[in-house]
Amino acid sequence: MSARVALVTGGASGFGAEVARRLARRGDDVVLLDVDEEGGRRVADELGGTFLRCDVSDYAQVMATTAEAEKAYGALDLVFLNAGVTTGFGVDGDFDPVAYRRVMGINLDGVVYGVHAALPAMRRRGGGAIVCTASMAGLTSVPLDPVYSANKHAVVGLVRSLGPALAPQNITINAFCPGFAETAIIGPIRHMLEDSGVPIIPVETAGEAVLQAFDSGETGQAYLLQAGLEPMVYRFRGIPGPKNADGTPAQPANPQGWTTE
Ligand SMILES: NC(=O)c1ccc[n+]([C@@H]2O[C@H](COP(=O)([O-])OP(=O)(O)OC[C@H]3O[C@@H](n4cnc5c(N)ncnc54)[C@H](O)[C@@H]3O)[C@@H](O)[C@H]2O)c1
Repeated sequence: MSARVALVTGGASGFGAEVARRLARRGDDVVLLDVDEEGGRRVADELGGTFLRCDVSDYAQVMATTAEAEKAYGALDLVFLNAGVTTGFGVDGDFDPVAYRRVMGINLDGVVYGVHAALPAMRRRGGGAIVCTASMAGLTSVPLDPVYSANKHAVVGLVRSLGPALAPQNITINAFCPGFAETAIIGPIRHMLEDSGVPIIPVETAGEAVLQAFDSGETGQAYLLQAGLEPMVYRFRGIPGPKNADGTPAQPANPQGWTTE
């Protein structure tokens, strides 16, 4: 495979840094975006890549840094929209509207802005591949962290919808949905996880799963990574098909592309 140009958000640590290392090892050029300047520069220096400071919840910064990445390397082939934060509040007495806007801004807006910024560059290149980090929390209920679950479900919905929409442009987009993995983000709950016997996914295993998602050729899929299991494409049930007033199955043109059971 010839070298490609990759943009990684949240590239200063955790999944982002691990994926950037793997891409650099196979010869790809990497551009890391993060708010952590020290960590981002350290990883970029290690990999001979480029670090650009970017808060992914800021539309103008995402547009400017994505354009800068394309200009610096003359192309954009792979985009890993991965920056994210936990919440630390619910929607009851502990709700914090300022913190709410911030986490939605990073975990959801950051992905939407990232896709929007990357698409023209990928079209100029004749195609590309996007992986968005959602979470297992985007596929199942998380009673202790409903807002995190909501923004990760939103990322999965975005990816499932964009998959077929972008296919004619030779652009794939998939969601990465891991369980708890060995990165800084689990710091505050590590003891709770260990005490309750939850196996923690090594960051290397997560990085490998992301590269599989990039290279799969699949699109619009959610790649579930559960501890101890191989990465798998999560299969959603279709919705029940509509019926006519007389109870016979309707066969509408289905311009929205929903799938039926
Ligand atoms: N580690 C897990 O258990 C786990 C499980 C499921 C999903 N995730 C998701 O994985 C993604 C990566 O997290 P991680 O586990 O590698 O943790 P991490 O904390 O090591 O990495 C997150 C990175 O995002 C950066 N970041 C935070 N806010 C930003 C912003 N506004 N703009 C740009 N960068 C910003 C941080 O500086 C950090 O480098 C997140 O989206 C997270 O929700 C993590």
